[in-house]
Amino acid sequence: MSAEHGYLPDIQEGLKFFPEQASSYAGELDLFFIGLVVVCGFMTLLVFGLIVFFSYRYHADRQKPRGKLPSAKSSHRIELSVLGAMFVIFMGIFAWSTHLYLNIYRGPEAAMTINVVGKQWMWKVQHPEGVREINTLHVPVGETVELRLTSEDVIHSFYVPDFRVKHDAVPGTYRKVWFEATKPGEYRLFCAEYCGSYHSRMRGKIVAMQPADYERWLGDQGEQVAPEVQGASLFRSYGCSGCHLGKSDVRAPSLAGVYGRPVPLASGGTVMADEAYLRDSILQPQKHVVAGFAPIMPSYSGQISEGEILQIIAYLKSLQPEDQALNPAAMT
Ligand code: CUA
Repeated sequence: MSAEHGYLPDIQEGLKFFPEQASSYAGELDLFFIGLVVVCGFMTLLVFGLIVFFSYRYHADRQKPRGKLPSAKSSHRIELSVLGAMFVIFMGIFAWSTHLYLNIYRGPEAAMTINVVGKQWMWKVQHPEGVREINTLHVPVGETVELRLTSEDVIHSFYVPDFRVKHDAVPGTYRKVWFEATKPGEYRLFCAEYCGSYHSRMRGKIVAMQPADYERWLGDQGEQVAPEVQGASLFRSYGCSGCHLGKSDVRAPSLAGVYGRPVPLASGGTVMADEAYLRDSILQPQKHVVAGFAPIMPSYSGQISEGEILQIIAYLKSLQPEDQALNPAAMT
């Protein structure tokens, strides 16, 4: 039971009560937590204090009560003011927490998006420049880092106590999680959702570095292929390009500039072509059949990994509507 294990806090750390505040919103969240503890603690003490006070003051076993029992008439005003005070306090907590939640949920414009895939029992990471890591994530200090979080198998949870970051990695969904590291250092990363035999070993670390050091670190990783470039070659090797580039007889929808636009559906209505839609189109093509096209696209479920899907999505996002080569309609 020593600190050398790296996951059991030593006594000194325990005395600090809170984990280190190493992200831009850690302080705000801690303040809110302390605020809640103070309000709840005050209420608890008040209620228990009044119970003790009243049970002493109006004790039935005594010869005569020490105080006169209050009249029932005055209780309306007391009840209303207690209710009013509670309403104000709860609305205050509601407003404060909503403000915090929305700020953290929306987040600022991100400087970079890093793909994080949870898998029994490791965290697989790919940087926008193509660098891959397992169970370690290097990030620059002072920049907004956005994670695109998903899972290859079961639900995991990406938990960095020092950043006050904890989000589920759910298979089949992409979750945006952002943080801004404020101090260089190494911070522990856990999986906080029971995910099988070796859940407890699904640990890693975040290495926060000064931006210049981070650039140097990226450079030291050697020649890298960016995810969208890897996606472009997957697009060919999986045979997507055959139909979607209009080179075969099969007519498939154009994918140039499709990202972020509404797609008309055969069943009527439209669906927004976001990352989830693109993923569904690869794994469950019959879910959203595009208007004017036959439902003939095969599913790639079981053949393609989550990492590869993310790379193909990165490639599709990089395409502009003007990329004529990808638009069969424009070629004729
Ligand atoms: Cu992954 Cu617990």
